[in-house]
Amino acid sequence: MGTKNKVTVFGATGRIGRELLQHLSGAGIETVAVSRDGQKAFPLPHTSWVKADMLQKDSLVETMKDSKAVFLNAGMGPGFVEGQINVIEASEAAGVPFMVKLSSGAIQEKPELSVAKMHEEVEGRLRASAVNGIMLRPTGFMQNWLGDLAASVKKERKIYEATGLGRRAYIDLKDIAEVAFTILMNPEKHSCHAYFLTGDVALNYQEVADILSHTIGEKVSYEALDEQEAKTRYLSKGVPEWMADTLLLYADAQRKGQTAQVSEDVRSILRKPARTVEGFVIDHINAFQ
Ligand SMILES: NC(=O)c1ccc[n+]([C@@H]2O[C@H](COP(=O)([O-])OP(=O)(O)OC[C@H]3O[C@@H](n4cnc5c(N)ncnc54)[C@H](OP(=O)(O)O)[C@@H]3O)[C@@H](O)[C@H]2O)c1
Repeated sequence: MGTKNKVTVFGATGRIGRELLQHLSGAGIETVAVSRDGQKAFPLPHTSWVKADMLQKDSLVETMKDSKAVFLNAGMGPGFVEGQINVIEASEAAGVPFMVKLSSGAIQEKPELSVAKMHEEVEGRLRASAVNGIMLRPTGFMQNWLGDLAASVKKERKIYEATGLGRRAYIDLKDIAEVAFTILMNPEKHSCHAYFLTGDVALNYQEVADILSHTIGEKVSYEALDEQEAKTRYLSKGVPEWMADTLLLYADAQRKGQTAQVSEDVRSILRKPARTVEGFVIDHINAFQ
């Protein structure tokens, strides 16, 4: 591969990106970490920071000059598809051999959701490119609980959700970062695969409440909301209406039993079980207790 031996990480300041950087740095991999904001850079051995914006094509050239692989991730926001396609086109132009794209399990669970359609459009562009793409499609992150859910458990010992008794095999995003790292260390083996990333057990919120009760030593109960109650609650917490409607669509799919699938992919790539809800609660006990 000549001098192409670096890894470029987009979304390096984000939740998965920060975890991934730790793995790459620990393994001594020369890594280019990308952010739009120089102030967000933090020092890490073997890591150099480049300021670039996915929406500004010219800024991307510098990020991937000597890279064997690009990790592509960004939060959902305006210009999401355009920005990701810019990175794919820049990688193609630079002759980057591999790209690991953080996509969404919604592509498999609920393809009609707008989030799924956006990721699908990017995946399609990557498949059509000269870059060997590897898609990571995670289900809902356990880390999503660290906002409103953890606050209501801490304050009232209650979980409020609109998912009925529908289950989902929530994933700890540390597993996503570890899967990404494992693949980036040997991308040839995984080239052109798509992986559905879940935990090992699908749970409903009654079962999550039981785990919380057991772990924090106090009774936590689950209040199943109807759609209107959930929307009112989201809006009262400052969630924008479009986001509240998207979350309700996710909840609807879960209530209808469309999200209970458990995948073997995390276990088979990491060669160990996926992280558990019990472990997650212990890791973040101060947020819940
Ligand atoms: N939350 C879930 O349960 C879930 C489930 C499945 C899939 N997903 C997917 O996971 C992905 C990540 O979501 P997240 O909320 O965890 O995001 P996040 O990791 O917090 O992502 C934010 C990152 O995106 C970077 N970024 C955004 N726009 C950029 C741009 N124009 N140029 C360069 N960098 C840009 C930010 O960098 P700077 O601000 O430093 O520039 C930051 O590092 C999304 O695609 C989402 O669909 C989420």
